[in-house]
Amino acid sequence: MDRLKRIRIAALRDAPQAFGTTLQVAQGWSDDVWRQQVKDLPTFVATDVGIARGVADGSSTNARLVSMWVSPTARGLRVGERLVEAVAAWARDAGFKRLLLNVADDNWAAIALYERLNFWPTGETMGFPPPRSHITEHGRARIL
Ligand SMILES: CC(C)(COP(=O)(O)OP(=O)(O)OC[C@H]1O[C@@H](n2cnc3c(N)ncnc32)[C@H](O)[C@@H]1OP(=O)(O)O)[C@@H](O)C(=O)NCCC(=O)NCCS
Repeated sequence: MDRLKRIRIAALRDAPQAFGTTLQVAQGWSDDVWRQQVKDLPTFVATDVGIARGVADGSSTNARLVSMWVSPTARGLRVGERLVEAVAAWARDAGFKRLLLNVADDNWAAIALYERLNFWPTGETMGFPPPRSHITEHGRARIL
């Protein structure tokens, strides 16, 4: 739980524009909330330089890739690719048919990664939760 907390806080501090959850909100969570997340979300960690999590998306068909982050010291080395593939393997093994994600429209590094790994735009567009609804994002999906 401490490890998850440390790495998620590092991610939210480094790249606030990339995540729907803010640093302030996450810092307010009790240990119980962090502990529950360890139980609820299959979580893949790249030896404290990266994290990605999977979650069911309200149906037996779709899973969602969330919390994707690689430390600035380890970027460009395909750590992100390994993490995406770990979540995809989990989702496939769990019987899901599609892996969904949202990405901010100007997040060129993440978009390059997702395009390379065959996540294509679904046509869905949305904004971050208020007060950051000016940050627009779009949905992508990969068939598993
Ligand atoms: C998006 C992110 C997870 C990619 O992780 P990564 O391990 O660097 O992924 P890759 O090595 O596969 O590189 C992905 C793309 O980043 C870009 N990139 C390459 N080297 C880079 C570097 N040193 N620094 C930043 N971006 C780099 C490239 O465009 C690369 O794609 P390409 O090789 O096809 O051109 C990482 O940049 C990150 O954590 N960003 C901040 C958080 C975030 O945006 N999360 C995604 C939310 S949807």
